Amino acid sequence: MASISLSPDEAHVWCAAVDDPFPGELEQRLVRLLSPDEADQRQRFATERLANEYLATRALCRLTLSRYADVAPNGWRFKRNRYGRPEIESPPGIPPLRFNLSNTHGLVACLVTLAVDAGIDVEDMERRHAPLGTATELFSADEAAALASLPADQQRTRFFEYWTLKESYIKARGLGLSLPLQQFTLHLGDAQPIRISFAPGINDSPSEWQFGLYRPSARHVMAVAIKRGARPDLRLEIKAAALAA
Ligand SMILES: CC(C)(COP(=O)(O)OP(=O)(O)OC[C@H]1O[C@@H](n2cnc3c(N)ncnc32)[C@H](O)[C@@H]1OP(=O)(O)O)[C@@H](O)C(=O)NCCC(=O)NCCS
Repeated sequence: MASISLSPDEAHVWCAAVDDPFPGELEQRLVRLLSPDEADQRQRFATERLANEYLATRALCRLTLSRYADVAPNGWRFKRNRYGRPEIESPPGIPPLRFNLSNTHGLVACLVTLAVDAGIDVEDMERRHAPLGTATELFSADEAAALASLPADQQRTRFFEYWTLKESYIKARGLGLSLPLQQFTLHLGDAQPIRISFAPGINDSPSEWQFGLYRPSARHVMAVAIKRGARPDLRLEIKAAALAA
């Protein structure tokens, strides 16, 4: 039975810790939630860690959506757009739920909204190298300059903040890397709110966006982008999910 209701002015993020190695009994339980295509895809990863992150992500997606609609976790069917973004395909007759997923070492996250375009990205700052030298390729000129102007000991964290915010935006748009990363700028000061601006090549309106930056653990950074349009900011709640429960 669906246990949670979501209003159009709310967004929920469900985060689950992922152990490495994955307990075998849990793995079998989660595999049973997958569609045949997903189970097949899981076999194709080069390492067990990546296969487990994929399994945890798809399972979290199904378990999370089933909190909001009377559908069994293995009853969801998805379709992907040409850039790979998944959306709910069936069953029909449920609320207009939208979701976006992200995974990194040790953490998976699922963002849920009602009808609103939104994206999420998580990164593990301990495991992942911060290629500060690539900032001029990955970031806009203003972002790269703002990063370079920081004291050296703050640059690594700020690099991941820009990275996750930029990913959350391209994921909310659903267009992947067909959106040129250097042509939009996140403006990050000490005080919220975070703003975005666009070079003329990107057809979008800065005032319609809401961003959030979070630290779900000491080593993880998480960013959320929500296209809320003209309405006030959505209320965002972060919730802990336990895959093993
Ligand atoms: C696929 C992409 C959207 C994100 O990839 P990622 O950061 O490696 O992966 P994440 O864990 O954050 O997200 C993966 C999930 O995003 C979702 N996703 C895939 N394509 C998507 C798209 N076009 N739009 C939104 N979501 C998408 C999927 O649900 C996917 O998980 P699943 O395959 O298990 O369903 C894509 O933007 C990408 O490959 N980015 C490259 C990274 C890069 O160079 N970034 C520079 C940042 S400054």
